Amino acid sequence: MKVSEIVDKHGNARENLIQILHDLQDASGDHSLHREDLEDLAGIMGLSVSDIVGTASFYTMFSLQPRGRHIIRVCVSPPCHIMGDDNILAAVRDKLGVELGETTADRMFTFESSSCLGACGVAPVLSIDDEVYGNLTRAKVHEIIDRIVAANN
Ligand code: FES
Repeated sequence: MKVSEIVDKHGNARENLIQILHDLQDASGDHSLHREDLEDLAGIMGLSVSDIVGTASFYTMFSLQPRGRHIIRVCVSPPCHIMGDDNILAAVRDKLGVELGETTADRMFTFESSSCLGACGVAPVLSIDDEVYGNLTRAKVHEIIDRIVAANN
């Protein structure tokens, strides 16, 4: 989808910028915002590129760097921390061989932390793309990742 089509869908008022950035990132193919798209967007919306980049940089859900096909976010807010987010972070790290903020060499996964994912009752929790997984153990994390890898092969 082109930048102009996304702006047309939402309207070019400043208050629609976050939703427009979401759609732009979803359409990017690598879960990131591309510089050339932000330049087009600035022209269409009558904003400066630095204003748009500043807004995008403020929110952790946006990335200005290319990311993997799937985004794994481990919740590190207090309820998940108390229930062992360290174990879950270690399980993802061991399974993927990357550190927080990194993308696997095959560009399949990007590993990130997150604030509350809204499922504290089943802490510890992680999300993969739009799916949230709870009551996690190391084994369960490995199993979930294996399932996604198998589905992509
Ligand atoms: S604190 Fe982890 S889901 Fe709410």
